[in-house]
Amino acid sequence: MENKHLIEFNNVSFSYDEEESKVFALKNVSFTVDKGEFVVILGHNGSGKSTIAKLSNSIFVPAEGKVSVDGMDTSDEKNEFEIRKKVGVVFQNPDNQIVASIVEEDVAFGPENLAVEPEEIRKRVDDSLKAVGMYEYRMHETHRLSGGQKQRVAIAGIIAMQPDCIVLDEPTAMLDPKGRNEVMNTVMHLNREMGKSIVFITHFMEEAVNADKVLVVDNGRILLEGTPQEVFSQSKLLYDCGLTVPDVSALSQMLKKAGIEMGENILTEEDFVDSFLKLCGKNAVEE
Ligand SMILES: Nc1ncnc2c1ncn2[C@@H]1O[C@H](COP(=O)(O)OP(=O)(O)O)[C@@H](O)[C@H]1O
Ligand SMILES: [Mg+2]
Repeated sequence: MENKHLIEFNNVSFSYDEEESKVFALKNVSFTVDKGEFVVILGHNGSGKSTIAKLSNSIFVPAEGKVSVDGMDTSDEKNEFEIRKKVGVVFQNPDNQIVASIVEEDVAFGPENLAVEPEEIRKRVDDSLKAVGMYEYRMHETHRLSGGQKQRVAIAGIIAMQPDCIVLDEPTAMLDPKGRNEVMNTVMHLNREMGKSIVFITHFMEEAVNADKVLVVDNGRILLEGTPQEVFSQSKLLYDCGLTVPDVSALSQMLKKAGIEMGENILTEEDFVDSFLKLCGKNAVEE
């Protein structure tokens, strides 16, 4: 039977505490990730985002509740191998994820460990490097790459294992704006063109605007869930838990308060300009 949800968190709690008086890093967290869906998880430091990432492919198992991947319970050890093939995780620091000195060797590492045939590995390495726009760099030394390039190689290493879902835990946090753009464009390509489900964890609000679904975590709980429009219309709630809305959304909300009729749901600079031009009685500028 085809499972509707690729990933399902059902009332999940998790504690790093072995003691009786448990402090929960996550408490009663429920959400789903469907095939092909782009989910963004937002939250400030210590809210529980990385704990969610590690629960999603059985690096951790829940203390209470259940995590399923394509119908497989992550608490059941015999599912571990299949689950890790279905859900790949990319972490924050690219330097900790690069294991080989040459780009293509690094990307081959994952499929080698899955005992994939050499010919098939060759093909997967080439395809994965093309998918992240790093094919021309296949013979380059990994330590000479920029942060954004290293992160894309790390993503290629995950793609080479052909997962259905890629979880990225703050993959842009250590990158400059150029590197952040490279990674974001790569992730969009994997979702839109290759049909991969994406769980993108970040504290940059701007990176959530293209999501199908946004989850806001605060203090180990899900505070908000909805489309980017729904979530960013709750600016008060977001401010109260130390988050902001994208600058253009905040600006539009301020202008609205001052009686200027800006449009609804302004998330990007393009939305803002369109709305502003309408106010001025002009049509959108052609690029
Ligand atoms: N290895 C650990 N041991 C003990 N507590 C931890 C550990 N890792 C995280 N925590 C705690 O769990 C909570 C959630 O952490 P984490 O999931 O890393 O948050 P985020 O990724 O959103 O910054 C925090 O209070 C953090 O201090
Ligand atoms: Mg984290």
